[in-house]
Amino acid sequence: MRIVLFAGKGGVGKTSIAAASGVACAQKGLKTLIMSLDAAHSLVDSFDLDKTLMDKNKGKPIRVARNLSIQEVDVQEEIKKNWGAVHKYISSLLNISGIDEVLAEELAILPGMEEVSSLLHINRYVAQKRYDVILLDCAPTGESIRFISIPTSLEWYMKKLFDVERRIVKIARPITKRLYDVPLPEDEYFATIQRLFDRLEGIDRILSDPNITTVRLITNPEKIILKETQRAYMYFCLYKMCVDAVIINRILPEAVDDGYFAQWKKTQGRYIKKTEHLFSPIPILKVPMLSDQVLGMAELSKLAKEVYGSLNPEQILYADTPYTFRKVEDDYFLDIKIPFLTKKEVELSKRNEELIVRIGGFKRYVLLPRNIAARQPSGAKVERDKVVIKFGGNDGS
Ligand SMILES: Nc1ncnc2c1ncn2[C@@H]1O[C@H](COP(=O)(O)OP(=O)(O)OP(=O)(O)O)[C@@H](O)[C@H]1O
Ligand SMILES: [Mg+2]
Repeated sequence: MRIVLFAGKGGVGKTSIAAASGVACAQKGLKTLIMSLDAAHSLVDSFDLDKTLMDKNKGKPIRVARNLSIQEVDVQEEIKKNWGAVHKYISSLLNISGIDEVLAEELAILPGMEEVSSLLHINRYVAQKRYDVILLDCAPTGESIRFISIPTSLEWYMKKLFDVERRIVKIARPITKRLYDVPLPEDEYFATIQRLFDRLEGIDRILSDPNITTVRLITNPEKIILKETQRAYMYFCLYKMCVDAVIINRILPEAVDDGYFAQWKKTQGRYIKKTEHLFSPIPILKVPMLSDQVLGMAELSKLAKEVYGSLNPEQILYADTPYTFRKVEDDYFLDIKIPFLTKKEVELSKRNEELIVRIGGFKRYVLLPRNIAARQPSGAKVERDKVVIKFGGNDGS
């Protein structure tokens, strides 16, 4: 069983590469599902299929070829099936605050509901062993980070707040139906949330198990996109997810020697080098800009060959996490795995939220999470195959 997330900035080629990977897996005989996690679904378009097909299917998987299905979750359907009491309660809250009923119903589709619905599907498919490979076509970075944060945040909410809220409402309800102007939720509201949470049991372990789930970061060889790729990588590291490849898409091919693109080719060359530098030892897969947009099975299959060459798309392409962020009491630590370290002299410098680590000829740029970036590195030591960098308390100790 394999799950692969295809993540990256808007427009870099996530859907195309997820779809191409799916086509390649299915052609090898693996039972494959490609699921769109992007509310602005475009998988159907990528396969050049009729959109009404998906609408009729109400968000269930559609078979598009032998061994291959695609799924675009339909949030309206999910709400009908799973969220009834929660959606009803939230729309009633919005409605009493004077918002028109139709708009209230729309606004009550809270951020996260769609993601939780997708997680429910994935959890069920894994339990049923329904597919060999599930490929997730992520929304642009920010939202995909929210997707992977849901199991952790939900667990925290259910452990720390949910029971307290439920108890308070139980006590308060016989006394008052409303708190100030707000009606209290009924039992069914809490029961629905509890049911959803129970059905998510285990999904966090599945997503953070590097033997099952890996992330492929799609990027383009350009400054702004590369910066966001670094940021995405840092977040996936924080959530302890394994990034097993960085895919540089839309590289102008050698054959393009038109003077008009000469500067573009130089720029791309520079950012390809930089990407290799930033993400090594994670495998970097390079994909040329094809001669036309990628639509339909034949083109997707061609794209898959460009992406993977002789590699197997379902394989775990890299099984380590080079960076780990930890907190011990009030200190933060960053561990950077570097095999074959001989030098012991570590030079550290920090530019805004980026840490630059130099050890002899070796240099690494690491984008830091905000709470660590607010501190200065206060020391580094080399331990066997890793460097441990300390960010002491706010007094810099
Ligand atoms: N290597 C390539 N060569 C030519 N066209 C490409 C290539 N990769 C992607 N495209 C085209 O670029 C467009 C955007 O690609 P795609 O939809 O896969 O990006 P995305 O990252 O999923 O975008 P979004 O963030 O909007 O979901 C599509 O028209 C696709 O056909
Ligand atoms: Mg897309």
